[in-house]
Amino acid sequence: MASSTLICDTEPWKDLKNHVQEIKKTHLRDLMSDTDRCQSMMVEFDGILLDYSRQNATLKTMDKLYQLAEAAQLNNKINRMYNGEKINSTENRSVLHVALRAPRDAAINSDGKNVVPEVWKVLDKIKEFSETIRSGSWVGATGKVLKDVVAVGIGGSFLGPLFVHTALQTDLEAIECARGRQLRFLANVDPIDVAKSITGLNPETTLVVVVSKTFTTAETMLNARTLREWISTALGPSAVAKHMVAVSTNLTLVEKFGIDPNNAFAFWDWVGGRYSVCSAVGVLPLSLQYGFSVVEKYGNFLLFLFTCYHFQLLRSVPEFIVRHGIILKFLKGAWSIDQHFISAPYEKNIPVLLGLLSIWNVSFLGHPARVSMESNGKGVSIDGVPLPFEAGEIDFGEPGTNGQHSFYQLIHQGRVIPCDFIGVVKSQQPVYLKGEVVSNHDELMSNFFAQPDALAVGKTPEQLQKENVAPHLIPHKTFSGNRPSLSLLLPSLNAYNIGQLLAIYEHRIAVEGFIWGINSFDQWGVELGKSLATQVRKQLHASRMKREPIEGFNFSTTTLLTRYLEASSDIPSDPSTLLPRI
Ligand code: F6P
Repeated sequence: MASSTLICDTEPWKDLKNHVQEIKKTHLRDLMSDTDRCQSMMVEFDGILLDYSRQNATLKTMDKLYQLAEAAQLNNKINRMYNGEKINSTENRSVLHVALRAPRDAAINSDGKNVVPEVWKVLDKIKEFSETIRSGSWVGATGKVLKDVVAVGIGGSFLGPLFVHTALQTDLEAIECARGRQLRFLANVDPIDVAKSITGLNPETTLVVVVSKTFTTAETMLNARTLREWISTALGPSAVAKHMVAVSTNLTLVEKFGIDPNNAFAFWDWVGGRYSVCSAVGVLPLSLQYGFSVVEKYGNFLLFLFTCYHFQLLRSVPEFIVRHGIILKFLKGAWSIDQHFISAPYEKNIPVLLGLLSIWNVSFLGHPARVSMESNGKGVSIDGVPLPFEAGEIDFGEPGTNGQHSFYQLIHQGRVIPCDFIGVVKSQQPVYLKGEVVSNHDELMSNFFAQPDALAVGKTPEQLQKENVAPHLIPHKTFSGNRPSLSLLLPSLNAYNIGQLLAIYEHRIAVEGFIWGINSFDQWGVELGKSLATQVRKQLHASRMKREPIEGFNFSTTTLLTRYLEASSDIPSDPSTLLPRI
């Protein structure tokens, strides 16, 4: 396929389009009773079980999807990514988040240079710094140990680290390592969020980590200036050096902000913001909270294992590790999936399967929802050609059974929305109550196993009649079924599995983008809103300070701005510093 050909003009795409009618004649109720089909739709890798038998797909569909992947040169694109080629062509950048979790002795090149040593230089620096903070050999301006961290950042500089922190927060080993410490995040620019992020914290014992790839993001920089003020008001301006550090690719701006460059942790333009959790963006705050050892605990041991493996002393590294209960942590988990992604054939490759099924659901079956945010929310191909098909999905979800009591009504009887169910075999926090039918985790997992079948199989009017349901209620109690989902079962939710999960979803996005022929690694679509906000910011300043009239906006915005300014006209035109009073 020539690079400028749209994927929808290829034979495999057209073939899949024709195949839709065939699939529309099937029902998951019947497909699910074909054991051979179901068995071949289960894939296992490194402790993770993927079951995609509840997708509106047959083995024929899967073959057609593999042909589509071939037509899109998926393997070639994955290899180009790992080889550091500048596949983010609109920003002329490599896409190398896989290098962030590569073992120390791996070689991954960008611009002809192996980037792995640089990655490890920063990881070593994080290890040293976080140990200095945690051990109390680095103290704050008044001599107190810094036990709390506020990570200031937004978008990719926030969501990935928050995801990992949320998952680790209840892991027993992680809890032990975090004892007496707090990690908070400040993302939104709403002053309410500033107040919440520092409530109950003492500036004397708090370290602020400013996380921004560009160090120009308006919200992050205002939040950072606000916390700088919070620290210097309490402890004096010189305290900033002891209480603020930064993570950025822009070390010049970090220094201009007043943070000692020695306390800045670099990353690189080949790491996209939303793919940056394995860089200092995530690893620094998480290491401060949990200790570097939890995030990358068995580095040397792993090297030993890889050496054994290399010299054929061990048959399988992951097996050995799992069998002996060795805790592989976050980066290693992600790296394990990275290896799987680049080497496993399509039919056994978890991220590839997830990506292909998403494409099947979005572009062929017309189910627009799931989650992908910036990466695949594109309207043109990587060559700038408008797409005659939909790309990207709307993702939403909820942990545990929360969704069941809010939006599941919609997915069972309303719109068809393909679902991913992610469950773990062993709870981080097992709870059993004597006399209860099942443990609390089994209760949770009962729903994990039940919901996909309820969606797939549904309930017919005939079944309801047999149950003597009143006729007028039958339409209301009927479940059409035939609603696709897939299930991912993880052994547990330790840092290793969290790393695996993260990498699976990162790579799924790449697979979809590679096949749709779009650039999953740029985000031009966020720029317009930002520049209009700049215009509004200027107007608010001019109207408040110099009483200048509102100009250059449409009727609606002018009316809203007028109302806003009039109703807050008690704010002085040149206010003095005001910090949260919470
Ligand atoms: O506006 C979108 C975005 O650029 C994301 O891609 C990024 O993760 C976020 O803003 C924050 O950017 P930065 O890390 O440069 O502050």
